[in-house]
Amino acid sequence: GDPALNRIVKYIPQMPDSDFKGTTLYLRVKQGDGSYRVFSPYFVPTLDPYDRYECRVGMGYTRIVSEFYGIRTEATIFVPQGDTRLIRDIQITNLSDQPVELDAIPVVEYTHFDALKQFNNADWVPQTMQSELYRDGDYTILAQYAFMRRKTHNNFFTSNWPVASFETDRQKFLGDNGYGTWANPLSLHAPELSNYEARRGDNIGALLHHLGVFQPGETKRLITQLGQEASIEKALPGIRKFRDEAAANAAFAALQDFWTDYLDTIQVETPDASMNSMLNVFNPRQCHTTKNWSRYLSLYQLGLGARGIGFRDTSQDTIAILAHSPEDGKKLIAMLLSVQMRNGAAMHQFNPLTMVANMGEAPLDPERPQYYSDDHLWIVLAVCAYLRETGDMAFLDAVIPYYEKDKHEQPLESGSVRDHLDRAIEFTRHDTGRHGLPLAGYADWNDTVNLPTGAESLFTANLYGWALRDLIALAEFEGDPAAAEKYSRYHADMKATVNEQGWDGQWYRRYYDHEGQPLGSHTNTYGQIYTNAQSWAVLSGFATPERAQMALDAVYNKLNTSNGIPVSTPGYNGYDPVVGGVSTYPPGAKENGGIFLHTNPWVMIAETKLGRGDRAFQYYNQINPAAKNDAIDVYEIEPYAYCQNILSPEHPQSGLGRNSWLSGTSSWAYTAGTQYILGVQPTYRGLLIDPCIPAAWDGFRMIRRFRGATYHITVSNPGGVSKGIASLTVDGQPVAGHTVPIFDDGADHTVEVVMG
Ligand code: NOJ
Repeated sequence: GDPALNRIVKYIPQMPDSDFKGTTLYLRVKQGDGSYRVFSPYFVPTLDPYDRYECRVGMGYTRIVSEFYGIRTEATIFVPQGDTRLIRDIQITNLSDQPVELDAIPVVEYTHFDALKQFNNADWVPQTMQSELYRDGDYTILAQYAFMRRKTHNNFFTSNWPVASFETDRQKFLGDNGYGTWANPLSLHAPELSNYEARRGDNIGALLHHLGVFQPGETKRLITQLGQEASIEKALPGIRKFRDEAAANAAFAALQDFWTDYLDTIQVETPDASMNSMLNVFNPRQCHTTKNWSRYLSLYQLGLGARGIGFRDTSQDTIAILAHSPEDGKKLIAMLLSVQMRNGAAMHQFNPLTMVANMGEAPLDPERPQYYSDDHLWIVLAVCAYLRETGDMAFLDAVIPYYEKDKHEQPLESGSVRDHLDRAIEFTRHDTGRHGLPLAGYADWNDTVNLPTGAESLFTANLYGWALRDLIALAEFEGDPAAAEKYSRYHADMKATVNEQGWDGQWYRRYYDHEGQPLGSHTNTYGQIYTNAQSWAVLSGFATPERAQMALDAVYNKLNTSNGIPVSTPGYNGYDPVVGGVSTYPPGAKENGGIFLHTNPWVMIAETKLGRGDRAFQYYNQINPAAKNDAIDVYEIEPYAYCQNILSPEHPQSGLGRNSWLSGTSSWAYTAGTQYILGVQPTYRGLLIDPCIPAAWDGFRMIRRFRGATYHITVSNPGGVSKGIASLTVDGQPVAGHTVPIFDDGADHTVEVVMG
């Protein structure tokens, strides 16, 4: 449910890779002299030498295949769809030519449910942790809970084999009065565990199974379940169900069916294999993860309660899952709107269980503005993307509360979605500074530039511009000329301001500080040019054609590297209390001149607006994780997930990636790839087909589900252009313009596009 308030397994972050981290499996082979050879088929924590080790991160599962001492283990680890248990389906095979007698001991170590308390209270926590044995016929279930939750939240750990003995106390399991180690638990050298039911201390669950003699080539299967229910009685039906191998097989098959169907929403075939593998599988998979976890839980975002769901991040994450999970998108959008404030600005982040929101880092510095200047504008983009994808225009009239509550925790005011969007716009329109640009708030998209009150943000101005363009298109579709005229006027006003105040001569500036001095200007020593200031001036529709080209050329000439585009350059070289967080990093790291990948897809999109398909694809390819296998020793990141940042050439470890999985890069790289480079965009009236591809491509194909029909799109590029459409037919009939109509007939439709 929640990694901060309902954690089950103890994961101690930042320990060496070799350390036990909350869960493992031990096997032990009985030797001729009666002693045991104990090892872990997961490698950690016993670190025995392996003959083979393979870890496969699949769709909703992880599979570890290893071979040690003639024993092959294949462990498939997954959560069944819609279920709350973790299954470890472990198949053990004797590869040797001798019979082997083997025991299996899966182990988990529990944490207090309040994960942070586990770390900061070593008195109360151990006094509250308890374990209890349940027998279910031949089977054993270990229950574990914090005393106060004995009747409400029972963790359970169980398996599909009879358990010979068990342990629930870490000290007894490791042995030697607490001086035993996870690398060699002393209790595993005795025939049986102690069957102790811990009533305090460091609780674990260890289940010792005698799997018996394995003949050469023989395989046996152990299935463990770790989960939580109000009581063991309530958990029993599920526990019994998943003891059955057929139920585990069916659950795994259902998981794969879910993913096949999910991914079938958009499938592409381009001349670039790495792009295909990202767009068809790994990128939508990552977007599903960011949709679920925002920036809350990963190996980098530790889920200890500090962040929860971020308003800005989740608004953006939502955009990339709308084609696949529109209902999830709608729920998330409604949740986000419920933490928007009555003045139109938004709370910065919230806990999804309690819905208690906060203002992020801003309260740490009460002298600075206590809001973020961009959050509320992102939700305009998310709502409009939802409407274009689904056509669910009734959502605009859904009534959602604003965040402020009375003393009974009841909302002080509610408004329609339409009203929420309008207040977001009006907040920014009125929240401007001395140059007429939006004030910067505590921060804008760049969390780390925290300028004193009075600073202005060109990023916020441009995001306001994109949001206004979305609302203009919506008003036009709805036939509301008054709204279209109003938002167009706002757009024209800000466009004039940005061009009068924001142009630096060769590129756009990024901020004005509290004294009215520019940042992102050739006059600065550090941070002379910022990538977002250029791309977003194009995305907002504010840049004139000539300036758009100059700004994007400046990105290419002054910022780009073969590993991606840094967020700015040069980095601050020392802490500067005026700019704040950005200068806590050394030059070339994170937001201080690092390659902050989230910014890169926006440049791709901007390039497609200029029709420069070769450059857009160059930017796409240079950050594509699937194209980085050869650089893995420097890059270090999984080659199937976008990371948040790569150290730039300003840093001695240039090329090292960090913070994979939970990054806005995922959503925007997917959007840039599918909607702007391949150019298939949902609109109110149909699917707009407007590719911007490398001139050398002879075309591509896409299958796209949209509004109840499946479109089989073939784009050919006989003339070797990057942009432009010479003809378009749907089911053999020519169609004027670039938009394929909505059919909503459950049928397949063939779309043939010739570029030229
Ligand atoms: C990561 C944060 O999650 C995101 O909201 C922010 O835009 C970027 N850092 C840049 O500061």
